Amino acid sequence: MKAAILRTLGGPDAVEYGEVPDPVPTGSQVGIDVHSSQVTYPDLLLTQGKYQLKPELPFILGGVVGGVVTSAPVGSDFAVGDRVTAITSTGGWAEKAVADVGMTFAIPAERTITEGTAVPFNYTTMYFALVRRGRLGAGETVLVHGAAGGIGTASVQIASALGARVIAVVSSPDKVDAVRAAGADEVIPVEGFKDRARELTGGRGVDIVVDPVGGDRFTDSLRSLAPEGRLLVIGFTGGDIPTVKVNRLLLNNLDVVGVGWGAFWTPRPTYLRDQWFELSNLMATGRLVPIVGQTYTLENATDALHSMAERRATGNLMLSIRES
Ligand SMILES: NC(=O)c1ccc[n+]([C@@H]2O[C@H](COP(=O)([O-])OP(=O)(O)OC[C@H]3O[C@@H](n4cnc5c(N)ncnc54)[C@H](OP(=O)(O)O)[C@@H]3O)[C@@H](O)[C@H]2O)c1
Repeated sequence: MKAAILRTLGGPDAVEYGEVPDPVPTGSQVGIDVHSSQVTYPDLLLTQGKYQLKPELPFILGGVVGGVVTSAPVGSDFAVGDRVTAITSTGGWAEKAVADVGMTFAIPAERTITEGTAVPFNYTTMYFALVRRGRLGAGETVLVHGAAGGIGTASVQIASALGARVIAVVSSPDKVDAVRAAGADEVIPVEGFKDRARELTGGRGVDIVVDPVGGDRFTDSLRSLAPEGRLLVIGFTGGDIPTVKVNRLLLNNLDVVGVGWGAFWTPRPTYLRDQWFELSNLMATGRLVPIVGQTYTLENATDALHSMAERRATGNLMLSIRES
């Protein structure tokens, strides 16, 4: 089969397109003909050797696939021909993949394979972040940094679907359409976001800040919060890991909340099924139509990673591997 392989930690240009043996499912794995794969920020970090997981080289990139089941363990919920998405960790940028049965999920009939494949990772992370870690209540206001990106658009869509008012922060006007399409109520520039957020909330501030960027926005994000507001620490695309002066937290009863989706579900694998149940319902009823952003071929996976590294990515980046 064809696959995108990483042989050295040389960044996006080190990804090679080539021929490798087909994977063979074990007794607890589902075999999948891959139609779509996700391109995520951790894929970029993996090519640079900067991700917390360090698979042995060479390996096939790709942590989430979607496609059609070719084989399934006896007694599992899956049969040949089912449309599924699955978390593979690696091995997903290929024409065929295998996944543990507990990490494989049926795509609702109402959604395409590509839409369903966009959900595990960014949407599951943000459902966990907003609902479990952030305790989002209906009618609350959520400010989202990096709102046009994968985590950002997932945040905007899930917060909107759950009844929140969403203020999206973007760095350039060409990202405005992407966040409006995701359902943002307001779109504001990075420069002066604290003052605009205060104006838009009648001086009160927002209830939740979603922060996948970090860096020098952090203090102004805390200053944007309403009393009992929560700042969700998701990632550090801006480069620097911020520090917090804790007196700022007691003055206004604020929480800085860490979000580590993988660290949460790894010892609790059934949590993924619970999440899929909730997100499938949102998808089946049309309250969540996952946003498919720029789409690349397997041969052009390097271009997808460059787009992410150069801050051009909007929505969830995908590889199209087979016609659905
Ligand atoms: N905690 C978890 O469990 C978890 C799970 C999944 C992902 N993550 C992390 O979340 C972060 C965001 O992932 P993503 O998929 O949303 O990435 P993305 O699609 O590339 O979006 C990241 C956004 O960050 C902003 N940004 C600001 N400074 C940047 C810079 N120097 N370089 C690149 N982008 C910059 C950009 O928005 P503007 O240009 O509008 O500022 C960009 O749209 C990553 O660090 C990822 O590892 C964490």
